[in-house]
Amino acid sequence: MTNYILANRKDNPYLPFGDHRGAPFYGKDILSVKQFSRADLDYIFGVAHEMRVMVERVGTFDLLKGKILANLFYEPSTRTSSSFTSAMERLGGSVIPINEVRYSSVSKGESLPDTVRTLECYADVIVLRHPEVGASVLAAKYARKPIINAGDGIGEHPTQALLDLFTIIEELHQVDGLTVTMLGDLKFGRTVHSLARLLSLFDIRLHYVAPEILRMPAEIIAELDAKGIPQSEHTRLEDVLAETDVLYVTRVQKERFENPEAYESVKGAYVITPETMKIAKQRMIVMHPLPRVNEISMELDDDPRAAYFRQMEYGLYVRMALLAMVLGKA
Ligand code: ASP
Ligand code: CP
Repeated sequence: MTNYILANRKDNPYLPFGDHRGAPFYGKDILSVKQFSRADLDYIFGVAHEMRVMVERVGTFDLLKGKILANLFYEPSTRTSSSFTSAMERLGGSVIPINEVRYSSVSKGESLPDTVRTLECYADVIVLRHPEVGASVLAAKYARKPIINAGDGIGEHPTQALLDLFTIIEELHQVDGLTVTMLGDLKFGRTVHSLARLLSLFDIRLHYVAPEILRMPAEIIAELDAKGIPQSEHTRLEDVLAETDVLYVTRVQKERFENPEAYESVKGAYVITPETMKIAKQRMIVMHPLPRVNEISMELDDDPRAAYFRQMEYGLYVRMALLAMVLGKA
């Protein structure tokens, strides 16, 4: 069994020696937010901030010149796939895109282990999105090169949680002391699973607002309970919106439902409009990992509290930082 928590490849005889062996995260997988400490977050966000400055100043630079990323997506993606591509190219590297595995040898029956063993012959790092929980752990077991989990079914989406937290820090300049309300599909939404876990490193209060059939999984609530995080569950947003500093809205994950009638019964459960936001604080933010379907009305987009488009941009800087770090250049 691979020690996926910061699995360190420094003893791997196949990795080239370089000047960056002492760099934190060099050659490591990014599989779950459980692997990060607060000190790690400070480091990652420090690098992300530098990336932002560099992008604003010069746009593209050669930190990862000659390095190659394989973007291996077994599920649809717009943001994660294109922001990793942009991140790699802004750092001077290049990308092998496998955005539609239907056209790859996966459709001939090639297994995930064989696919990653193939791609690592051609690339220095692999970003993987897959419908099964634990797929990236499995891939990391077989790959010598770093695997970055870009979403494993209803499991985790760790790079999203990192960019979500970076957004909160950039927008509100604090995490400790905040009240965060997660709304929508908390059962199947992997972004809230990762974000709740990551936030448990801080002194925060969490409210979960969801239809009965889409509640936050009991195991995650128990995990955070054991860390002493105050959590409460609700079905009505009005009960907690006025005290909320971060409202994190999610899409009902249609593709995860076995029963289409069950999806129909909850798909429009919550819609945030300017009217809804009247009772919210003036100094708070509304986030969404996107894509949105109908859970935030477009009329809210011009409200300065609507942070979901800015959130996507922060994702570029965080992903640049992660690529530089796992490739030993930060
Ligand atoms: N894009 C996010 C994910 O892949 C959220 C979503 O699809 O609703 O998990
Ligand atoms: N937030 C997110 O993961 O978006 P995509 O599914 O478009 O990658």
